[in-house]
Amino acid sequence: MEEVTLELSSLLFSPLINKAKEVAARFNFPLYLVGGPLRDILLKREVKDIDLVIDGDIFLFAKELAKSLNGKVVFYPQFLTAKIEGEGMVIDLARTRSEIYERPAQLPKVSPARIEDDLRRRDFTINAIAYDLRKREFFDPFNGKEDLKRGMIRVLHPRSFIDDPTRILRGIRFAKRFGFRMEKDTRRWLEEAIKSSYLSLLSGERFLQELRLVMKEKNWLAMIKEINRLGIFKAYFGKNLPRRIVKSLSRIRKGRDVNPDSSLFYLLASFPTAKLPLNREEKREIISFQKIPLLKKRLARIKRPSTIYQLLKDLSTSALGLIKELVSKESRKKIEEFLKRSKEVKTILTGKELKKLGIKPEVKYGEFLTKILYQRLDGKIKTKEEELGYLRKLLKRYG
Ligand code: CTP
Repeated sequence: MEEVTLELSSLLFSPLINKAKEVAARFNFPLYLVGGPLRDILLKREVKDIDLVIDGDIFLFAKELAKSLNGKVVFYPQFLTAKIEGEGMVIDLARTRSEIYERPAQLPKVSPARIEDDLRRRDFTINAIAYDLRKREFFDPFNGKEDLKRGMIRVLHPRSFIDDPTRILRGIRFAKRFGFRMEKDTRRWLEEAIKSSYLSLLSGERFLQELRLVMKEKNWLAMIKEINRLGIFKAYFGKNLPRRIVKSLSRIRKGRDVNPDSSLFYLLASFPTAKLPLNREEKREIISFQKIPLLKKRLARIKRPSTIYQLLKDLSTSALGLIKELVSKESRKKIEEFLKRSKEVKTILTGKELKKLGIKPEVKYGEFLTKILYQRLDGKIKTKEEELGYLRKLLKRYG
């Protein structure tokens, strides 16, 4: 009898797994727990979602299981996978399948297969372990459990990084997340795949997605340093991450409340990002990060709240959350004060009121109110009467 950890045995008797076993038994489908969740149970780490694979009709199985769990099911027929969502749970389901990589770095063609083939298509031995839920035994043809014990990242075959270069980043992520070493051949194949042009064949979407996953990790800085050291940025963007950026990333790490996406955009600001599918907001954030040296200099010089407001007003809160980690203590205070006051300080007069007063021209309202706001920020105006007095002055100036 195989040894089963406490965590695994408690999962095996969970109502959810029992239901899955029941449904699988009804159709006589082999059912396995696989991939990340099984790995995390064996490592005694927290398990987020459940990954189940079934050797049988995935659509039939998913529909029946969702029914018995009162969950909602979504199918992804091209991948032979499904997702069941219910109260506080997500189950990823897949049909046991094999993959054929017709061209390097492109998504593979999948077709139904047995569990052996399903495990063979996977990235690392530690992610290629299955637990047969009906027979209650492990199926571990690549000795993934042994590698988990030894703390080893190992691919299943020499072409793994060529077929799927996202595995280069995944390998680094798992190694740094778990404090594992990379097995010698694996390390060599990984370095060879970086040196050859395979990495640059990867779509911007997939590369960006992997970077987002890296930035969400607790140990992201060590991962980014390793990615840089191995020349992955150079292979993909044509240059390494500048040393001063690596240095300032180390400062962000110590800072609190920094949005992982902002740290990513800060890093991407050093690279040509045309290949990456970024939305308008994200592109704007990257451009603002490219101007940080200038912003730092100006912020150090200015004191007046309204001037600080003008300098910072177009930056998002999350961009400012990052920038304040990179500037001097005094500048940081200015940003914090800005973040606090920009929410609090408002003019009493509104566009509606200006209209009621019959002020002309209406197109100038925005400008008038902004000017009044600056006066208020600088403490020169406090009451509504003072706002009106200042407005009169402005109107005179505009004739
Ligand atoms: N997988 C793979 N090659 C990839 C991506 C995924 O072989 N490029 C396989 C692995 O067996 C992995 C499983 O699909 O365990 C699920 O993928 P994913 O959810 O991305 O990985 P997890 O191992 O669950 O990683 P994480 O802990 O980061 O969620």
